[in-house]
Amino acid sequence: MKFIKATNYEDMSKKVANIIFSQVTLKPDSVLGLATGSTPIGAYEQLVKWYQEGQLDFSKVTSINLDEYCGLTPENDQSYCYFMEKHLFSKINIDKNNTNVPNGTANPTVECLRYEEVIATAGGIDLQLLGLGHNGHIGFNEPADTFAKLTNHVQLTQTTIEANKRFFSSIEEVPTSAITMGLGAIMQAKTVVLAVNGKDKAEILNKVMNGPITPQVPASILQLHNNCIVVASVQG
Ligand code: GLP
Repeated sequence: MKFIKATNYEDMSKKVANIIFSQVTLKPDSVLGLATGSTPIGAYEQLVKWYQEGQLDFSKVTSINLDEYCGLTPENDQSYCYFMEKHLFSKINIDKNNTNVPNGTANPTVECLRYEEVIATAGGIDLQLLGLGHNGHIGFNEPADTFAKLTNHVQLTQTTIEANKRFFSSIEEVPTSAITMGLGAIMQAKTVVLAVNGKDKAEILNKVMNGPITPQVPASILQLHNNCIVVASVQG
């Protein structure tokens, strides 16, 4: 894993955006695996800025998002579909037909199979952006007994429900399950960028990078990826 130390959130966001800038510049028809959560917002803002300045063109890009809560419609302002529209898709010239987010209201079994097809049809992912959950999850691949290879329907852990309740008006509103891209597609991405911000993530990041490779810390599998870049601002 390559470690890039950032000095603060703004610096981390710029560094992540720079990597995506290079990817899209070098390969305009890139397949970008995109993430939600608070971590990537600053990077998306920077990408939007560069687009507005005419420095970036997303017209040939395909995007495949990591995950979606089950039960939330795209119109729900807590859905990841809504998040992507708000922070990125509505502000750049990406073709909406080339954006993909799992459908949280579809039958989960059918949707997981459909999403695998989406990934396969796109020819896999060129660059996968990831955030990191406090329990080491990536996408919504929660700590488990085995690594999940394919897109799967996952029950969220109490830790994740607690962590994500800040976005909802009450904990009861946090969905209890989600559809997430599996670790197979993430590991097959040509480049993986793991963005981490906040000293509350320092301990789990240390486990991810230096601890044993275990499904109890799903992101630890990234130690086996041959082009994984960690961009982190985790100092106090
Ligand atoms: C959610 C998402 C993850 C994200 C994580 C961390 O659970 N499913 O993809 O990485 O939150 O979120 P944050 O960046 O807000 O800490």
